[in-house]
Amino acid sequence: MLGILKRYIKRLILLRELIAVYFSDCYQYAKYSATFNTELNQSRRKARIIRLCHGIEKGLSLPAPRPGFGRSKVIELMRLTSEYGKAHGPDDVYSVACETINEYCEFNSHHGWNDSQIDALLEKLTDTISLVENRLGQSAGIIELSRDHIQAEVGKSYSQLVRSRHSVRQFSGEPVSMDVIENATALAIRAPSVCNRQCWKVHLFQDTNVCQRLLNIQQGGKGFEHLVTTILVVAADLNVFWPVRERRQPYIDGGMFGMSLVTALHSFGLGTCCMNLALTPRRERRFRQEANISPNQALIFMIAVGHLPERFIVAASPRWSLESYIVRHDNS
Ligand SMILES: Cc1cc2nc3c(=O)[nH]c(=O)nc-3n(C[C@H](O)[C@H](O)[C@H](O)COP(=O)(O)O)c2cc1C
Repeated sequence: MLGILKRYIKRLILLRELIAVYFSDCYQYAKYSATFNTELNQSRRKARIIRLCHGIEKGLSLPAPRPGFGRSKVIELMRLTSEYGKAHGPDDVYSVACETINEYCEFNSHHGWNDSQIDALLEKLTDTISLVENRLGQSAGIIELSRDHIQAEVGKSYSQLVRSRHSVRQFSGEPVSMDVIENATALAIRAPSVCNRQCWKVHLFQDTNVCQRLLNIQQGGKGFEHLVTTILVVAADLNVFWPVRERRQPYIDGGMFGMSLVTALHSFGLGTCCMNLALTPRRERRFRQEANISPNQALIFMIAVGHLPERFIVAASPRWSLESYIVRHDNS
């Protein structure tokens, strides 16, 4: 009896601890993320601009983009970019946005699509566009690549392997063999994990109908989902975690493993596109039911995998200059 009571009290203490840490996470996110802080400072403007740019570069990298696609988003991007330029000056963000807008307009005009509102907004931006040099030394918009180029790059060095990876949204349709999935997983499991607990699970789907249904629930594959015939869902087994303070560990270990898997697949010359599983609870239930993944596994993200076509287009997704990532804490 005393034993049961002690166990019960211990559980209550743990539950209190769990609620407190989740409350603390909730407080941090609510206070510092842009969920409620909607007033636009430089970081928030930058994030909105890059998200809109990504929508355009992704659209341009799809197998068959529709001329005039994403019109309202482009108009919003032009407005935000102009506002950003006035508030913060023409920096890397501004330059990437201008280049992306230019590529969008070039694509439309190449397809005989004219839009007077966009032309007028572009004219307003044009004066400053010509003054902006691309200081990042990387292109924005889209990049055209070939399978041969990727296959040559991946074998050269770690640096070339990493630099030649892009999210691919065009696949040849050739089936992905079990061998390559196993070989890539054998490399991915070399990822580090907390106390070597290896929470990783990789769920493989190659039935075309199931893949389509999963993508339909996930919603991030519009414009290329019909080409996806292999999906990997990366998950983390919650059974291997117990301290309350490890609540984020499934996502950390699962994320590190997932990235290793993506790099391994790329090293075998396959194309991959990570796809978020940031689903609402209701959608997550539907997804789990369709994928037959029980709630004892945290869903980390999924990966669309396929063979590369001979030639294909990817979103450039440029990165910022190094000083925007490295925060030095010494005085030298
Ligand atoms: C967790 C995660 C979720 C993502 N979800 C999607 C998605 O749903 N659809 C999509 O087309 N791309 C998705 N992406 C791909 C990103 O758009 C891409 O990684 C980013 O733009 C950088 O481009 P790069 O992968 O070519 O370097 C996702 C990436 C990550 C890491």
